[in-house]
Amino acid sequence: MKTGQPWRIGMGDIPIFSGARHRSPLKRPLWIIVLVSLVSIFVICAFLYQPQSNAACYIFSSRGCKAISDWLPPAPAREYNDDEIAARVVIKEILSAPPVQSKNPKIAFMFLTPSAVPFEKLWDKFFIRGHEGKFSVYVHASKEKAVHLSRYFANREIRSDQVIWGKISMVDAERRLLANALQDPDNQHFVLLSESCVPLYTFDYIYDYLMNTNISYVDCFEDPGPHGNGRYSEHMLPEIEKKDFRKGAQWFSVKRQHAVIIMADSLYYSKFRDYCKPGLEGRNCIADEHYLPTFFNIVDPGGIANWSVTHVDWSERKWHPKLYKAQDISYELLRNITSIDVSVHVTSDEKRVVQRWPCLWNGIQRPCYLFARKFHPESLNNLLHLFANYTTI
Ligand SMILES: *[C@@H]1O[C@H](CO)[C@@H](O)[C@H](O)[C@H]1NC(C)=O
Ligand SMILES: *[C@@H]1O[C@H](CO)[C@@H](O)[C@H](O)[C@H]1NC(C)=O
Ligand SMILES: *[C@@H]1O[C@H](CO)[C@@H](O)[C@H](O)[C@H]1NC(C)=O
Ligand SMILES: *[C@@H]1O[C@H](CO)[C@@H](O)[C@H](O)[C@H]1NC(C)=O
Repeated sequence: MKTGQPWRIGMGDIPIFSGARHRSPLKRPLWIIVLVSLVSIFVICAFLYQPQSNAACYIFSSRGCKAISDWLPPAPAREYNDDEIAARVVIKEILSAPPVQSKNPKIAFMFLTPSAVPFEKLWDKFFIRGHEGKFSVYVHASKEKAVHLSRYFANREIRSDQVIWGKISMVDAERRLLANALQDPDNQHFVLLSESCVPLYTFDYIYDYLMNTNISYVDCFEDPGPHGNGRYSEHMLPEIEKKDFRKGAQWFSVKRQHAVIIMADSLYYSKFRDYCKPGLEGRNCIADEHYLPTFFNIVDPGGIANWSVTHVDWSERKWHPKLYKAQDISYELLRNITSIDVSVHVTSDEKRVVQRWPCLWNGIQRPCYLFARKFHPESLNNLLHLFANYTTI
C-alpha cells in the first residue's frame, strides 16, 4: 500500500523522520490524525479490493477481516471486458432483429462425413417428389469425395479440411458448413447430420416440425461429473465460468439467426479452440460436445430446446453409442425411437442423476426425434424396405 502521498500531504513541511526524539506536545494531534487516516485508508482499501484481494486482510486479524466483509455490501457482479461487451451487443442485435422472411424457405441439410454418405439412396427417397425448392444439401467430406448415387448429393460438396475427433477442427467443419449454407438466403433452418444418420419421418413432417417453431434444437445440460464439468479448464475464465459450462451431443439443428451468431462468435470459440481438446492437462475435453451448448447457455438459453432432434442410444454405456446393424432394423425399433417424447440426460458422476424433460414443441408435447444414428451401412436395404412403413404417422 502506498502511504507516501498521504504522509506528505498530512505533515506539510514538518520533518517527521528526523525529529522523532524532539516531539513536542503540540504535534501529538497530528500523529493522531495520521493514525486515523492510515486506518481509514486500510478500511477503504479493504472495501475496494474485497473479495478479489486478501492483502488488506493480513493487516487485521482473520476475525477482523471477516467482520469487515460482513458489514460491506456484497461484491458487485463481474464487470464484462471489452471483448465480451462487443460480442454481447452484436449477438443481442442479431437476436432482436426480426428474422428475414423468405418467400421460399428451405431447410439446409448439412452432412459432416469422412467420405461417401452410405444412406444416399434412403435420403433420395426422403427428398423425392414435390419437395424440390424446400431444401438444400451440403456435404463436407473431410477425407475423400465420393461417387454419388443420388442427384441431390451430386456437386453439393463444399471445400473441406481435415477433421480430428474431439478437436476444434470438428467445430471448424461445422462452421464451414454453416457459412456455405448461409450464402443461400432462403435457408432458414440448418440441420447437421452425420454419415450414419437416417430420417425418421417424411419430408413434410420434418419440414413442418423445424420451420413452424422459433427455437433451435441444441442439446444442452449441466453435468457435474468427469465427462461434463470435469473437462472445464479455468483458462476459460473470465468469459466462461464453470457454472456456465454445458454438455450436449454435437448434432444440432439451428434457426438462421443462431447460425449467424455462431458465425459472429470468435470470443467463446477461441476459448474452446485453445483450452478444450483431448489430453490437455489430463482432461479429455471434446470441443464439439461443449462449445455450442455452453455458447448458447451463455448468450440465448431460452432460444434452445436443450435436446437434439437426432436420436442416439447411449444405454450400453460404452465409449461409442449403439450401432444398429442390418438384423437390428425392424418396424418395432423405429417405432420405439419415434414414440419417445421425453428427453433424458444422465450425469457422469457416481450419483448418475437422471434428468427428464418432456419434449415441448410450441408448448405441446411431441416426439423428440426426427433423425437417428448410428446405423451401419449394411442396414441400408432393410431401411429402404421399411421406409414407407415406418415414416407413416
Ligand atoms: C417464439 O414464438 C412464441 C410464439 O409463437 C413467442 O411467444 C416467443 O417470444 C418467440 N420466441 C422468440 C425467441 O422469438
Ligand atoms: C433450456 O434450459 C435453459 C436453462 O438451462 C432454460 O432457461 C431454457 O428455458 C430451456 N429451454 C426450453 C425451451 O425450455
Ligand atoms: C421396444 O420397446 C419395448 C418397450 O420398451 C421393448 O420391450 C422392446 O424390446 C423394444 N424393441 C426394440 C426392437 O428395441
Ligand atoms: C408397418 O408394418 C407393421 C409391422 O409389419 C404393421 O403392423 C403396420 O400395419 C405397417 N404399417 C403401415 C402403415 O404399413
